[in-house]
Amino acid sequence: MSFATEENITDIATARWATCHDPRLRELMTTLVKHAHAFIREVEPTHEEWLAATEYLAAVGQISDEKRKEFILLSDVLGISMLVVMQNGRKPSGATPDTVLGPFHIEESPILEQGADMAGELPGEPVYLSGTVRDHDGNPVAGAELDIWQADQEGAYEAQIPDCGPRLRALQYTDSEGRYGFWTIAPKGYAIPMDGPVGALISQTDISYFRPAHIHFLLTAPGFQPVVTHLFREGAEYIDNDVVFGAKRELVVPFRAQPAGTVISGQKIERDFLTVDYDFVLVRAQNLVEESLPADVAG
Ligand code: BEZ
Ligand code: FE
Repeated sequence: MSFATEENITDIATARWATCHDPRLRELMTTLVKHAHAFIREVEPTHEEWLAATEYLAAVGQISDEKRKEFILLSDVLGISMLVVMQNGRKPSGATPDTVLGPFHIEESPILEQGADMAGELPGEPVYLSGTVRDHDGNPVAGAELDIWQADQEGAYEAQIPDCGPRLRALQYTDSEGRYGFWTIAPKGYAIPMDGPVGALISQTDISYFRPAHIHFLLTAPGFQPVVTHLFREGAEYIDNDVVFGAKRELVVPFRAQPAGTVISGQKIERDFLTVDYDFVLVRAQNLVEESLPADVAG
């Protein structure tokens, strides 16, 4: 055992964490120590700066609770959430890509029958979303669960509204032909929560703190990899500058204008509205994705 010096402290600290009993934790901790030390060696923080950094992380924790997930938001705006999503979501081309879960998903939403309205009396442009859930060979997936959630016209999610019952969120199951279909209101772009430590940091930059208009989906079906994704409105503001890096070309869909009198599921609609058609493509759970990996990763 030697005394720590500025030169050898990184090696000593790394070796100490190499005693982790679990091999994966050992890898995580030794690599974390190595990179954190490299960061400190590069930026050489003052005592005040390092104290401010620890107080900042404490503030991120203090504002967080069951509904407010400030650490997820921090990870989102740093691009880390999307990097993890992309590393874990390598799929064959044609499969619906994943994007960020975000901080506003709520478990156990009410069930929405085919053709029903998720928005109730809330104001907004009516839109009918429909399509199928299919496997990678084009076969319909019956009984797939679509967990759907979105913000209202002011950009507010239910999770941000105190004492609010289920609002703009639902579960729908595909029919025997893999079809889904429901009414809602067209989403709008919105600002991420700016009233906490993440907002305070972003406010010290020129970073746009908006997300392009989207609806969230979490798709699950027995035997398939779950998909956490969004559908983005084509032409939406911020589509090419999403603050959380979540927008993807394959997930941008047209919201087509339909005149009053158009028939949907045998019913004449007496007002102007929009339609979105999108077929989700799931990948089987055991399907490794060698074909979508770069040659040096696939080996
Ligand atoms: C969302 O889309 O709900 C979201 C995602 C990341 C950060 C903030 C909001
Ligand atoms: Fe969202």
